[in-house]
Amino acid sequence: MQLKLLHLCLVACLSLVAATDEDSASVVRINGGQTMNQTVPFQVSLQQKGRAGWRHFCSGSIVSRQHVLTAAHCVEQLKPEQLSVLAGTLNWKSGGQRHRIVAKHVHPQYATTPRIINDIAVLQVSPAFALQRAEIATVHLGGADRVAGRTPVRLTGWGSTTPSGAGSGVVAQVPDRLQVLNYQTISNEECVQKGFRVTANEICALASHGRGACMGDSGGPLILASGRQQLAGIVSYGSATCAQGKPDVYTRVSSFLPYIGRILRQDLAGEARATAQN
Ligand SMILES: *[C@@H]1O[C@H](CO)[C@@H](O)[C@H](O)[C@H]1NC(C)=O
Repeated sequence: MQLKLLHLCLVACLSLVAATDEDSASVVRINGGQTMNQTVPFQVSLQQKGRAGWRHFCSGSIVSRQHVLTAAHCVEQLKPEQLSVLAGTLNWKSGGQRHRIVAKHVHPQYATTPRIINDIAVLQVSPAFALQRAEIATVHLGGADRVAGRTPVRLTGWGSTTPSGAGSGVVAQVPDRLQVLNYQTISNEECVQKGFRVTANEICALASHGRGACMGDSGGPLILASGRQQLAGIVSYGSATCAQGKPDVYTRVSSFLPYIGRILRQDLAGEARATAQN
């Protein structure tokens, strides 16, 4: 099965992994076709400056007043000064508040071969997020408990609503308004059986044919759909054609809590030192 990372290839597409995929494209609506009517206060659009202005290419989640959690493959090859994040908006083309990226932390063990692992990065933004606003908030990261299979989850994103594969040469069209898909996790064993060589640090989710993550959803949040909203996963990769009855693979957030905590503390300590020197 051919795999792909689910960002929009604006600069250069990262490597695809292995073999064939017999699935043919049919016009389906990714993310189950539901348009959000309310902002998701912790979700940001990651944007890159192009000739026509800022363009959405990945998502992220606000985890502190200065930090966004995203996928490593979204930002690995980009310089912070080429990027910005837009917070507090339903429509990535308008509204919201724009922040610069002042630091980029890609997981030191991020790798794409022989398999995609540690696909996680933390961005530090400036100015700090306006968390006093109702439409901007941090997301709860939860504890170290592993999310089991058959758990209801929710994906939100501005990713492509057509299943065009990576390498098709077609620039994916992304919707202006945020989309939502409610589906379920599957166990890692089941994910392996379905052809994905996941480790314990990933989590998979699967919906019926025609529903799933797609290009441009990368870095975005997978949220536990019941109880307190909690970040369970970060969109990482899927099969080469979106939503063809194959799982979507996410970075498992509960596996990376020590890493995330370390980066946040390190940046805050750096800021305290800078303040003391002024
Ligand atoms: C948002 O509103 C539209 C039109 O009323 C509706 O079709 C859609 O399902 C709503 N989205 C959600 C997530 O409820």
